[in-house]
Formats: sequence, C-alpha cells, structure tokens
Amino acid sequence: MPDWLITGCSQLLTLRGPVPRRGRALGEIEIIRDGALLTHDDRIVAIGSRRRVDRLPKARRAEKLDLGGRVVLPGFVDSHTHLIFPESRALEYEQRIAGATYEEIARSGGGIRSSVKGLRRASASTLKTRALKNLREFAAHGTTTIEAKSGYGLDWKSELKILQILYDLHQEHPLDIHATFLGAHVVPPEFRRRPDAYVDVLVRRWIPTVATAGLAEFCDVYCDRGAFTVAQARRILMAGRAGGLVPRIHAEQLAHTGAARLAIELQAASADHLEKIDRKDIRALSLSNVVSTLLPGCCFHLGLKHYAPARQLIEAGAVVGIATDFNPGTSPTLSMPMILSLACTQMRMTPAEAIAAATINPAYSLRVHDRVGSLEVGKYADLAAFDVADYREIPYYFGVNLCSFTMKRGAILHMKNL
Ligand code: NIG
Ligand code: FE
Repeated sequence: MPDWLITGCSQLLTLRGPVPRRGRALGEIEIIRDGALLTHDDRIVAIGSRRRVDRLPKARRAEKLDLGGRVVLPGFVDSHTHLIFPESRALEYEQRIAGATYEEIARSGGGIRSSVKGLRRASASTLKTRALKNLREFAAHGTTTIEAKSGYGLDWKSELKILQILYDLHQEHPLDIHATFLGAHVVPPEFRRRPDAYVDVLVRRWIPTVATAGLAEFCDVYCDRGAFTVAQARRILMAGRAGGLVPRIHAEQLAHTGAARLAIELQAASADHLEKIDRKDIRALSLSNVVSTLLPGCCFHLGLKHYAPARQLIEAGAVVGIATDFNPGTSPTLSMPMILSLACTQMRMTPAEAIAAATINPAYSLRVHDRVGSLEVGKYADLAAFDVADYREIPYYFGVNLCSFTMKRGAILHMKNL
C-alpha cells in the first residue's frame, strides 16, 4: 500500500485531547484549517497544516491525494451493533405504526424471537453475504471500526455460527470488528419456563467456551423488563469477566431496573440505551469510567419521545458515546451521520460533542483508543471525508450520505464524487 500525502482538508478534525472525554472537553475536537496528513503503511506519521506537512521530506515520495476542500475526521467507531441478523422485521414496523408496542409484539412471539427463528434456519453463507453488504455500507457512511454482537442464535450451534462469521469477517474485511457474546439477549423458547436454567447454561458452559476459544472480547446482557433481571445479568457478566470478557450491558431502555448501577459495580466498558435513568444514576455514571452509550436511533425508529438525557449526562461529567444499535427490531440504520443528526436535534448535543461521542469515546469503550478514535501520529490512518464546508453540516444535512471518502489503515474503502 502506498504512503499517502492527503491534502485539501478544509477542516481537519483531529479529536486530539483527553481520553475519555467528559463535560466541556467533549466539545473540544481541535480543528486544523487547510490541514494535511501523511501516512506510512497503516499509520499516520504526520498531521498538521498543509504548509507544514507538505514540506516534510517524506511527503515528496508519497502518493498525493487532494480531498478538494472537504471536512475530514477520524472514522466513526460504532460501539453497538447487531450486525448478524437474518432479515428485516418490516411487518412489525407496520404493526407498530398501527398502534402495537414493541413489547406487545415481543410478548406475542415476535420481536427478537422472530429474528432467532430466522437466524437458526439461515445458512452461514447467506448471513455472511448479507453482513458483507452491510459492512460496505458502514464504510460508505464513514465508519471504520465496529462492535458486533451475537444474540440472534440463542442455541449453542447458532451462537457459534454467528461468532464464527464475525471472526471470519474480521479476518477478511478491512473494517475492524470487535465481537461481543450476547447469548443473554432474551430467554430462548426452549427455556421459556426455566430462565434460570438458561442462565446456568450460559454461565457454566457457553461463556467459558467462548472466552477460552477467543471468539469474543466482550460479554453483554439485555437486562430489562421482558429479558434478564439484574441478578441474572450479574451472574452472566461475572462469568464473562472471569474468562476475560469485558462487560457491556443493555440498560434502562424500557424500564428502570438498576442495570446502570450494575454496570458501575462491575466496571463495565459501557452501559447502553439509558433512556430510563434517574438523577442518582446520572451522578453515579459521572463518577465512573463506564461509557454511557446513547442509541437515539431506537427512539426514532420506535416513534418514542423519551430520549436518553444526554445533556444532563454531559453536564454531570459522564463519558458519553453514541452508536447506531444497528438491528432489525429497534434501529435498522447503520448510518452514524444519521445518529449524529438525532443526537443533535433530539438530545441537544452540539455537533462537536456528537462527533467526539462517535469517535474517541466509543474507541475508549472498545479499549482501542491507543490506535483509533482520533487522528494523531502513531494511530491508524482511519478517516472519513464529508462533502460539506463546515463540520456542523454533517448532522445538519440529515437523511443523505455526504461521506465521499473513507480510509481504513491507509487503504481506501470508499470514494464518491472525488
Ligand atoms: O438494542 N434491546 C435489545 N436488543 C436490541 C433490539 C433487538 C431486536 O429487537 O431485535 C436493542 O434495542
Ligand atoms: Fe442493542
């Protein structure tokens, strides 16, 4: 791969600064006007004003790439996705529009359980082809690192099928994919009347095997009304931790359960959703290093008005991140720019805060902040360029994809109108 001298960055957002970002610092993104960067192999070796970088002796030998005055930022880090699922649930979408709620549909056998039925039937190659198509779309929207969960299999064979696909995709596709074991998504039909027996299987057999085989880095639980209790989630996440799987948790989405407190107790990497947290939770989160990962695509897609209290979390000093939660039930989008738009208009984050919450903080939550999440010498050349004049226009122009260039570890993944 050539070394690149990348110029023509009207605004180059480096996101250099403290990690993780809290409070006022969340809005500090560092903008270099008329910026440039130089790569060697997969890394950034120089970054700064074009005048300075241009003059470096190494720049002369590099391949030249002029981005024509676009806004450039670190590739997005999407720290919450359910990449592997069989098909859309557009029928449920229509049922909800007609008045049914997400939980009613789930109770009547739809929801996650209907995706489980489809996934168990689907072949690994069909699932993989679908995922590859989606990975191309992630890249085309400026995302260069994702987390991806299992959780639509819920029997050993099917969970393994998902984790194996994730492993293969990570080897074969340039995007970095960090796998999370979400065997505790919901109680599968076989254990409907014996949820604790399912937790036993997870804790005694599946989690230790996943951990020993190195098939996941993280362990997650959907801890909510209609899924797992706090006590069950504690057992599951502690079993994960014993095997080296770092906890993440779906917390406080539909009901206030105490899941956010559990995340703090277990020093989870991230507590995700948080629509139903209270003032005490906000304070406790702000005193911890748990990333509060907000998923506004869910409220938007479910047509709910009660978004997570992003402003209060930021002002209290919590580490706030945002992610797509790409999944067929509650948030069928893989567009981080769309999530930025929702973060700004629905949760009142500033565009700068939303960008930091989509790059450096999720990199911290995935424990990869030493290599991704900001543009600095020594880090991966992972970047996205947008066809706008000012970074605030990235969330401002919603519902269109203005990402015209994506680079991952020095390789061009996407180029449009350039
Ligand atoms: O993050 N809440 C649990 N998991 C997903 C929904 C999955 C589904 O409905 O298929 C979420 O919102
Ligand atoms: Fe989720």
